[in-house]
Amino acid sequence: MRGIIQPNTNSKELSFTTLPTPAINPSLGEHLIQVKTCAPCAGELLWPKNFPPPNPRELVPCPDVAGVIISGPEDSPFQPGDEVYARTNYIRPGNAREFTIGLTDELAHKPKTLSWVAAAAVPVSAETAWQILFIHAGIAGDAEADLGTAQDAWKGKRVLVTAASGGVGMWVVQLATLLGAEVVGTCGTANIALVQSLGAKEVLDYRSTNIREWAEDPVKKVDVVIDCIGRQSLEDAWWTVRDGGVVLSIFQPPKQVCPAEYTGTDVKDVFFVMEPVRRHLESITKLIELGTCRGMIDSVWPLEQYEEAFKRLDGGHARGKIVFDLSLNQ
Ligand SMILES: NC(=O)c1ccc[n+]([C@@H]2O[C@H](COP(=O)([O-])OP(=O)(O)OC[C@H]3O[C@@H](n4cnc5c(N)ncnc54)[C@H](OP(=O)(O)O)[C@@H]3O)[C@@H](O)[C@H]2O)c1
Repeated sequence: MRGIIQPNTNSKELSFTTLPTPAINPSLGEHLIQVKTCAPCAGELLWPKNFPPPNPRELVPCPDVAGVIISGPEDSPFQPGDEVYARTNYIRPGNAREFTIGLTDELAHKPKTLSWVAAAAVPVSAETAWQILFIHAGIAGDAEADLGTAQDAWKGKRVLVTAASGGVGMWVVQLATLLGAEVVGTCGTANIALVQSLGAKEVLDYRSTNIREWAEDPVKKVDVVIDCIGRQSLEDAWWTVRDGGVVLSIFQPPKQVCPAEYTGTDVKDVFFVMEPVRRHLESITKLIELGTCRGMIDSVWPLEQYEEAFKRLDGGHARGKIVFDLSLNQ
């Protein structure tokens, strides 16, 4: 089968190649999936070096997939012919290949309202945003919150989302708004209207606004920073949080860039790596089918054009997700 691999963990070079079709072990909940579309995640070619998988594996990129079940466990809720989507677990190869493997606990049925391309644009971004708001920010308690508890806890909280126009940021803005938070987002000039349309009350153009200066006015301070870009933006974001608040980043542990002269107190800092969880993706599916939330597609590519597609992703200015459509260029 056709596929893409990263031959070397120390290099971001990829190759287009022929791979053996994976064999499933149904007793482990494995399903063989014919891949219709798949999507890469920003920065993923650095993961094998920075976060080596626990067991060496073929480095196939693209954590997100949408496709058709070919075979699987007999008692599975996902039967041959079912249309599914998922962020598959990082411990296994990704999905830039014609056939892949998905587990019962990470798959969900594809939203009825979405095309194959639109479906592959959702899982890693939406599940990460979900896990930030319902678990890791800790606003609704130490354990995973249900919807009612999360709404009570987030109502009226001021939240700063950096890179609010990115794949994850867009979902954080939508879900936080849905939970009743007051969202401030940062993005570039061209994306201001987009971030407003997702629910943000205030949008700051990162090219013209210094968020440290913006937050000198105490009424601007936020309860929670949700950082999706890291480095300088995260360093500046430390100045925007109230004492007793939370600085969470999905890019790096926030303490790594806490300014030496920072004087805030009792601020909790959080970094985590998302895990694929079926019930989270099913909750997201419902919101998509209700028309409450949406993902966004930057561009669609045949697998063979992986170099151009990853170049666009690495540029850091995609407007939504980059998606590979395996029906193109066959
Ligand atoms: N920890 C986890 O579990 C986890 C999960 C998923 C993703 N991640 C990581 O999260 C990061 C974001 O992923 P993503 O898919 O959301 O990225 P993305 O979609 O590629 O982000 C691109 C967006 O970032 C905006 N942007 C670039 N520089 C900015 C800045 N200085 N301030 C504000 N916005 C800026 C761009 O807007 P303009 O075009 O206007 O500049 C563009 O809209 C990646 O590093 C990824 O690896 C981590």
